[in-house]
Amino acid sequence: MTESRQKDGSVGIGLLGCGTMGGEVALAVSNGAVQNARVFAVFDEDGDQANRLAKTLDPTPIACTTVDELLDVQGLSLVVECAAPAAVAAHGASVLSAGRSLLMLSSGALADTDLYERLNGIASENGCDIVVPSGALGGIDALRSVSDLLEEVTLTSTKPPHAFSGAPGFARWEDVEITEPTILYEGPAVGAVPLFPANVNVAATLSVAGLGPQKTIVKVVADPASPGNVHEIYARGQFGEFTFKLVNEPHVRNPKTSHLAVLSAIETLRAYCDRGPRIGT
Ligand SMILES: NC(=O)c1ccc[n+]([C@@H]2O[C@H](COP(=O)([O-])OP(=O)(O)OC[C@H]3O[C@@H](n4cnc5c(N)ncnc54)[C@H](O)[C@@H]3O)[C@@H](O)[C@H]2O)c1
Repeated sequence: MTESRQKDGSVGIGLLGCGTMGGEVALAVSNGAVQNARVFAVFDEDGDQANRLAKTLDPTPIACTTVDELLDVQGLSLVVECAAPAAVAAHGASVLSAGRSLLMLSSGALADTDLYERLNGIASENGCDIVVPSGALGGIDALRSVSDLLEEVTLTSTKPPHAFSGAPGFARWEDVEITEPTILYEGPAVGAVPLFPANVNVAATLSVAGLGPQKTIVKVVADPASPGNVHEIYARGQFGEFTFKLVNEPHVRNPKTSHLAVLSAIETLRAYCDRGPRIGT
């Protein structure tokens, strides 16, 4: 395992993916909103993105041209992945095998239970952490707390019809005018993943926190009156029941990403690097 902190107590970060999330996370470190952290290196499959971002940060990180180069950077102990589920599948094992912890935003990758178990195994062999922020969802701390007592978990994701355009699960609705709330999919989370890729991260995060992708039920609803991207979690079990409802505003730089997801990534990194009290689980 790589030493998890520098001599000054800070965490050395390598950024994998330099788009909306990556840019905001790196900026939060650079401007001191996240303390005890320093971005040592950045990588993006689009090299221009990595170079552009590196130039805006102080101190300037190394813009790497491969993930191997990123993992060779001295002092780096945490890779923050802000790229795509495919990047977790391609590089997650190398990151953890190199003794680096992994904070991943593209949690959709974990809907593949084989990959999830493999990464967990490599992380524990190498004494590394896998950290998954709540992202565009809330209530994950409560769900984790009652995970042994759960009997039912349902995620209802409601969006205006146009927000589904292009999703394979929306193909038969593309030319139909939807005038009232319409259920596009209701079934196990694992079945929703290929049909509605934009929902993959929230469905996977909820699944791994609770009952797994086979038993977590996902309902996808198109509603012309929906105020935006609305996620509602319902959980029931021997502990009682709870409902969380999130009405998310899109991020100004990427309408596909909720503003909350960006803030959740920054707060998770802040808590990871911080040495102060931890509030909540
Ligand atoms: N957990 C959540 O609730 C949540 C919410 C929103 C977004 N996300 C996920 O976070 C990730 C980043 O989102 P974003 O808004 O910053 O996206 P973005 O499109 O703005 O940026 C992604 C960046 O990653 C790069 N990239 C893509 N695949 C790569 C690969 N295989 N290797 C290296 N670089 C790669 C792209 O070139 C791009 O610069 C996405 O996977 C997105 O689905 C998660």
